[in-house]
Amino acid sequence: MSSSILILGACGQIGTELTYALRERHGKDAVVASDIREGSEQLMNTGPFELLDATDHTAIEDIVMHYEVEEVYLMAAMLSAASEKFPERAWNLNMNSLFNVLNLAKEKKIEKVFWPSSIAVFGEHTPRENTPQRTIMSPSTVYGISKQAGERWCHYYHHKFGVDVRSVRYPGLISWKTLPGGGTTDYAVEIFHEALSKGSYSCFLKEDTTLPMMFMEDAIRATIQIMSSEPEKLSVRSSYNLAAMSFSPGDLANSIKKHLPGFTIEYVPDFRQDIADTWPKSIDDSLAKKDWNWEARYDLESTTAVMLQKLKEAGLT
Ligand SMILES: NC(=O)c1ccc[n+]([C@@H]2O[C@H](COP(=O)([O-])OP(=O)(O)OC[C@H]3O[C@@H](n4cnc5c(N)ncnc54)[C@H](O)[C@@H]3O)[C@@H](O)[C@H]2O)c1
Repeated sequence: MSSSILILGACGQIGTELTYALRERHGKDAVVASDIREGSEQLMNTGPFELLDATDHTAIEDIVMHYEVEEVYLMAAMLSAASEKFPERAWNLNMNSLFNVLNLAKEKKIEKVFWPSSIAVFGEHTPRENTPQRTIMSPSTVYGISKQAGERWCHYYHHKFGVDVRSVRYPGLISWKTLPGGGTTDYAVEIFHEALSKGSYSCFLKEDTTLPMMFMEDAIRATIQIMSSEPEKLSVRSSYNLAAMSFSPGDLANSIKKHLPGFTIEYVPDFRQDIADTWPKSIDDSLAKKDWNWEARYDLESTTAVMLQKLKEAGLT
């Protein structure tokens, strides 16, 4: 069997689209999707799929050996809003899955690792406008703490053991193929579904809560681009800042109204407002641009147009 790629947490918002994109690029048999639960029929029928717990080191190692895996994309995690409800489970999943994969690379059983961080690594003392690559990081959420610790472990394993681990700090991601899995920016996907199905949306963040966001196609391209880069070009082995656009729920609602003039929105902030209030408004990703030629393609207007069109075409609302 030829060498393969393994995706852990492949049935989630990012993993699903990443699986399709990698199968397109490397051939369907070269990309093993895995998750603790089953995913969409399309995901499970377009290439190998394994039920696999990312916290089970032995089970991952068995799959790595069986498929002769060289690259692992670790997308299994508990996201920001869910982690506030289950702090210990979040910490165990987010950290143990990372150690499992980093240790397989340290033992030379795999060659390359992708692990995503998040803008949640920043916190209330971080400069919120154009947040630099290197700055004060004071995460106040369980999720943010796990991501900051994860970044330091990635840096450590690279410098101490030569592990080839690569990472980006994704902003909030907007996708039409898969729903988000319990984050603070989920509103920016839900709003499109409800705008089309009901003509209205009740938003859990305030109207003026500006956050960094990105269309999924850009996020997948960034992921594949950093993993394809020459290793010596990567000056950051913790995690790279990554940016595309910044907008508030009010900005997004106005953009949707250009297509659906009757759309209405109300704002009923919940506990996720407190999380969003500690996150940056915009991100400086100049180092990713310099090191591996990162460039976003989608802005608010193009994202809105594609989301509405694709959801309508796919009958997903
Ligand atoms: N979606 C975003 O906006 C965003 C932003 C920043 C960072 N990230 C990061 O990107 C990664 C993927 O995020 P996502 O949005 O696709 O998350 P998601 O919640 O949509 O998907 C996570 C997947 O992991 C699976 N999973 C949970 N526990 C598991 C276990 N023990 N073993 C195997 N699989 C398990 C879930 O079933 C799910 O399919 C995470 O590390 C997340 O922190 C996401």
